[in-house]
Amino acid sequence: MKHNNIILLGGSGFVGQHLAIELAQRGYKVTLPCRRPHRLNHLKVLSNISIIQTNIMDQAELTAACKGHDVVFNLVGILNESKKSSFRKIHIDFINSIVQASQANSITRLLHVSALGANQASGSSLYLRSKGEGENLLHTFGQNKLRVTSFQPSVIFGSDDSFINRFSTILKLCVGFFPLACPYSRFSPVYIGDAVAVMADKIDDTNSFSKRYPLCGPETLTLKQIVELINKSLHKNCKIIGLPDSIAKFQAVILQNLPGKIFSMDNYRSLQTPSTCKSDIAPCKTSLTSYLEGLSQLYSRRADYDEYRKQLNR
Ligand SMILES: NC(=O)c1ccc[n+]([C@@H]2O[C@H](COP(=O)([O-])OP(=O)(O)OC[C@H]3O[C@@H](n4cnc5c(N)ncnc54)[C@H](OP(=O)(O)O)[C@@H]3O)[C@@H](O)[C@H]2O)c1
Repeated sequence: MKHNNIILLGGSGFVGQHLAIELAQRGYKVTLPCRRPHRLNHLKVLSNISIIQTNIMDQAELTAACKGHDVVFNLVGILNESKKSSFRKIHIDFINSIVQASQANSITRLLHVSALGANQASGSSLYLRSKGEGENLLHTFGQNKLRVTSFQPSVIFGSDDSFINRFSTILKLCVGFFPLACPYSRFSPVYIGDAVAVMADKIDDTNSFSKRYPLCGPETLTLKQIVELINKSLHKNCKIIGLPDSIAKFQAVILQNLPGKIFSMDNYRSLQTPSTCKSDIAPCKTSLTSYLEGLSQLYSRRADYDEYRKQLNR
């Protein structure tokens, strides 16, 4: 079964942009409706990606945007609630809107990105419970005519991610030591290139209908090990100190009330669930360790080059 025209909801985000490029390179026509098209000018070089300004939270606009497509791929998600966006609105109610828009346009193929650990009944945070409920809702619709596939990634890394880059930014400023909340939280980080390749492979794969795919990389690492790897790749000598649980919670309560909400109590609760796959799930191939070693060599080559330029100028 070959599909052609894909509408990518949440395509302006980190995963969405990589997926748009992967799909375009595979010859699919991709439409990317988003709030701020000017931020995606770099994608316009690919002739089979169309970027349109649309408020996908408006049912009429979403339904109109879906016209002429045969696949809906949903990546819309938030990590923290705000005054305008609740987990219920973005992770659950929006699924109903997608199904309505798909049915109005006779679209039967739907793919969706959930999260590892998402569980409607027993997720440790509101984020994980709402992601679980939205995913279940979509699969329930999938029992009736729609062909649904979902993906449950662990944390995804790449050059423009927000996970590794956030820690890199903090570590670059670090003087002496870095206090880390939830140091023993466990992850199997998955490389963005591997993740979007799996997602793209499933679009036309009839065996993937009604399936949920956990996505993990080849390593299981604690948060402290990940931050130490980033530290090493930056050639920094910052000491990573794991915070006791009570202080981590206190930090979350303070930071969730500051602009940017870099860490919240709900994030803290999500970190209590291991973001790792069962041993019978085949992992994606790229390891975070090898990726960061590559970056580390780049950093040292750049330092050598800067030193060389300094010497030339003496
Ligand atoms: N990155 C990871 O490590 C990871 C791990 C597990 C699961 N996931 C899931 O994968 C999906 C994509 O993640 P990501 O890292 O690409 O996230 P991201 O960079 O934050 O992108 C989120 C996308 O959702 C859109 N969105 C959010 N709220 C919206 C609203 N009110 N109206 C319209 N659009 C809205 C954003 O649009 P704007 O660009 O306009 O804000 C953006 O396109 C999410 O569902 C996430 O839960 C990600």
